[in-house]
Amino acid sequence: MKHISLSIVFLLILQGHLLVSCGSTDEELLPVPEPDSRPLKEISSFPVGAALSISKMKNIAGYSGLVKQEFNSITAENAMKMANLSPAQDRYSWDDADYFVDFAETNRMRIHGHCLVWHNSLPNWVANYQGTKEEWKSLLRDYIHTVVGRYKGKIASWDVVNEALLDDGTPRKTVWYNNIGWEYVALAFQYAHEADPGAVLFYNEYGQEYSKVKLKAINDSIVKLVKQGVPVHGIGLQMHTNINHSLDNLVDAIVVTSETGLKVHVSELDIALNPNKNTAYQPTEKDLNEQMKRYRIVAAAMMNIPAGQNWGITTWGLSDNDSWLTSIPDHPLLFDKEYQAKAAYEGVREALLRTDY
Ligand code: XIL
Repeated sequence: MKHISLSIVFLLILQGHLLVSCGSTDEELLPVPEPDSRPLKEISSFPVGAALSISKMKNIAGYSGLVKQEFNSITAENAMKMANLSPAQDRYSWDDADYFVDFAETNRMRIHGHCLVWHNSLPNWVANYQGTKEEWKSLLRDYIHTVVGRYKGKIASWDVVNEALLDDGTPRKTVWYNNIGWEYVALAFQYAHEADPGAVLFYNEYGQEYSKVKLKAINDSIVKLVKQGVPVHGIGLQMHTNINHSLDNLVDAIVVTSETGLKVHVSELDIALNPNKNTAYQPTEKDLNEQMKRYRIVAAAMMNIPAGQNWGITTWGLSDNDSWLTSIPDHPLLFDKEYQAKAAYEGVREALLRTDY
């Protein structure tokens, strides 16, 4: 008996749990949990990321430091869009994208490439291009082969096609659609796969959380492509949402998308506090709390999908100082304008640290 209790004491000492000497009460002997101050990337079972600006990476002290501290996946907010990569026909400007890829390699981060085919960020030479269907197809093929080929093996995943559907589920009438037909979507995936067979290829879209019609149309269209043998591996949910949005719909969008069996990426998450765009808006504690709840529930929903399908969560920007939404006052991200963690950040942490899923 004495033997047993001695070995228990020994074990407790080993675990660093025995705190004080003889006179202590039982309470004092209880383990004191250390506050968990590990960054998101260390507590998360899936990749966590942010969309970044190259000029901020180069010019704002602390910006890259915070990225390195918290995240293990990065997306270029604009640097890999067509207008930036290909300012003129057969001319490419790689400096910013190369800088971004070098940064990720040096810091051993995953890169999610964004985005190859979109109706926005079209260079003028493409917007004004006149050609036959075959010429449009070869324009698309050359562009995708060149970009994906340059970063083969370095960019883990790509948003190959972005925002090809309207809210009613019908195709958006983009230059790609108008000149090639819906076939452009399958072709884009095929070209990307040819250029880097190891890259994970996504269809990226917005609105899954506010339109059930669109959610279904996206999933049905992509599953149909998969069945036809098109190399599409995942669906990105942009999730530009706001504090008035129903929690249930946020969860539903993720759950229903995961039911396709494809990979799921929450690819551009931000949660606006001021969706009505009031120019005098000041954040209140109540609003920050509503925002926290939504960040927490999105992270928790991602914890609940099968690990093999989970491509992670990427926020659209690093801090409230950097968001695309802040021309009208807003505070949609995890860090405030001084790059300090907000309640939203704690919400994500709580969801990531929970073990009872
Ligand atoms: C936005 C950027 O954040 C802005 O800086 C830029 O001016 C326009 O594009 N959906 C997308 C992203 O897929 O590429 C968009 O990013 C936001 C909406």
